[in-house]
Amino acid sequence: MVVVAILAAGRGTRMKSNLPKVLHSVGGKSLVERVIQSVEPLQPERRIAIIGYQAEQVKTALQAIPDLEFVEQTVQLGTGHAIQQLLPHLEGYEGDLLILNGDVPLLRGETLKNFLQIHQENQNAATVLTAKLPNPQGYGRVFCDDHNVLQQIVEDKDCTAAQKENQRINAGVYCFRWQDLAKILPHLQANNAQKEYYLTDAVTQVAPVMAVDVADYQEIGGINDRLQLSDAYDILQVRIKQKWMKAGVTLIDSASITIDETVELEPDVIIEPQTHLRGNTVIKTGSHIGPGSLIENSLIGENVTAKYSVISDSVVQNGSRIGPYAHLRGHAEVGENCRIGNFVELKNTKLGNNTNAAHLSYLGDTITGTKVNIGAGTVTANYDGVKKHQTIIGDRTKTGSNSVLVAPITLGNDVYVAAGSTITENVPDNSLVIARQRQVVKEGWEMKKE
Ligand code: UD1
Ligand code: CA
Repeated sequence: MVVVAILAAGRGTRMKSNLPKVLHSVGGKSLVERVIQSVEPLQPERRIAIIGYQAEQVKTALQAIPDLEFVEQTVQLGTGHAIQQLLPHLEGYEGDLLILNGDVPLLRGETLKNFLQIHQENQNAATVLTAKLPNPQGYGRVFCDDHNVLQQIVEDKDCTAAQKENQRINAGVYCFRWQDLAKILPHLQANNAQKEYYLTDAVTQVAPVMAVDVADYQEIGGINDRLQLSDAYDILQVRIKQKWMKAGVTLIDSASITIDETVELEPDVIIEPQTHLRGNTVIKTGSHIGPGSLIENSLIGENVTAKYSVISDSVVQNGSRIGPYAHLRGHAEVGENCRIGNFVELKNTKLGNNTNAAHLSYLGDTITGTKVNIGAGTVTANYDGVKKHQTIIGDRTKTGSNSVLVAPITLGNDVYVAAGSTITENVPDNSLVIARQRQVVKEGWEMKKE
């Protein structure tokens, strides 16, 4: 039986921010959300966030998480003081308490599960997650005897020069037998450099205590400043990219690519350099994205290519070719085997299969049939200054270069629009429409000028 407490009351002075530290986000999720997510595999009986600094803001940010409880620590007198606030809420509770810092966002669920298991199998009063760090600066140092029995945790600020040499650190993850911890919590002292009640002092007042090293020390990185925030992002990115490469995705120059963890990729997708995949994007097998593309919240079918293009909130069906330099946004939907080329923008537009818009066009609020050809420079004039209007283009219709289609307007099937036309009225099936001045040639005009 385990209850989880997450320490999230501190301000995070070293972030130099108005936003509470635990609400800073890394890879699209706040630090504290990530911590909460990491305990999911444990199926804890209760999850309690201890909040204090800008408590309302933290609460609001987390209100969508079901059954998350909040306990307020109105003044922040240290991590031990934070856990003291649980006393009235856990009266009579007989199980274990897993404590996590709200600013340690990279822990894997598996790691916590193993940690809890070790604590329970050994019937420890307390178990502390530790790591040997190449650069232990800023962390509490953990001192054990020859049998790995924890003797003392000394905060960085309280360390002597010799103690600072110790690279074994406290990760800020603890499991306590609650009944044992509850007995000593009221007796913590604040006689240290920061005049705080340290939770780390409680560890040495119960027995038996065990220190358990984490296998991958990157998991326990605490975020105290913006540099560590940036490092955490990089670590998350490496994890995500390794996962997709193992699943059959090719990443070329992977360091230049970013992928949100919400993205789904199929085997045999190829991602070229400088490409960024965001939000709820799905890319199906055989597609080749990049170089230089941004795809967000979009569904990309099989065997699609997209070079130097931006695709947001849109769908591209199988076999279509996008770019270079195309922009799809606002629920654009491109059918199968289409070609959307250089400097073409599609907004809230649905193109039927085998339709091409290869150069220099804007199609907004448009629906086309199949096998349509949008000539270079075709523009839908969809906005009258107040409202947006729709353009409908039938099957096999071809617009000439530099046509303007003034919406609302419907072009039928098999319509030809002459180059340079401004079309303001509907055109029936099987027609040629010309809407421009006839060319006038005045011969000998140059001579007459004099
Ligand atoms: C803490 C540990 C240190 C460990 C490190 C790991 C203590 C005394 N020290 O140090 O041994 O190596 O974490 O990252 O615990 N908080 C509250 N209320 C408070 C103070 C802090 O809720 O009164 C919260 C903070 O919001 C934060 C967490 O507790 O999420 C840790 O506090 P922080 O000040 O960052 O502790 P560290 O100095 O990093
Ligand atoms: Ca910290």
